[in-house]
Amino acid sequence: MSEDKINIAVLVSGGGSNLQAIMDGIASGAIRNARVGLVLSSRSDVRALERAAKAGLDAAVVGAESFPGEAERTAEILRLLAEAQTGMIVLAGYMSILPPDVVKAYEGRVINIHPSLIPKHCGKGYYGKRVHRSVLDAGDGESGATVHFVDEGVDTGEIILQRSAPVLQGDTPETLAARVLEIEHEIIVEATARICASLTKECGA
Ligand code: GAR
Repeated sequence: MSEDKINIAVLVSGGGSNLQAIMDGIASGAIRNARVGLVLSSRSDVRALERAAKAGLDAAVVGAESFPGEAERTAEILRLLAEAQTGMIVLAGYMSILPPDVVKAYEGRVINIHPSLIPKHCGKGYYGKRVHRSVLDAGDGESGATVHFVDEGVDTGEIILQRSAPVLQGDTPETLAARVLEIEHEIIVEATARICASLTKECGA
């Protein structure tokens, strides 16, 4: 019964491979009682939007180009999330800071994937390739990925799931990113399934 399903809003800014993992997870039944109700991108020129279009998903772009004022941007994001009857938000490679009013409105229902073992290599300025460059510069023997709840800080919310990946001799940010991305696709599905299950229970469905 589609009425019982949790509408997930997936927020993206780039390739959308984590969005794809979520769509595949729903299709395979690994994520139950959910559908992607909205794909929201901070940029217009990204592959994630092509993936959304191919899957026939509702998508919108709300970024600094179209909504330069923060208040207008926040209002538009909240409007779109409400219109899509959003029950849960997944930041899947979202390279903007989610406005505090959005975090407040969906408290406990917003999760983010970060490509390192938080608390290492995270926080302001650590995103995408910069994270992997930082791991290599530090000489770490392992890296990994983390899914955590989003609070009003940057990468500071409670950790839901974390999995490691080795750093190999001769790794570049690109090769390490590719290895970590495989881990991300596993844990984003597991964490989304877990949160959906707990929200479904909360609703008594
Ligand atoms: C992923 O590695 C994700 O963890 C990272 O951006 C990439 C997006 O890939 N996010 C951050 O760095 C956020 N701090 P995708 O668009 O293919 O899912």
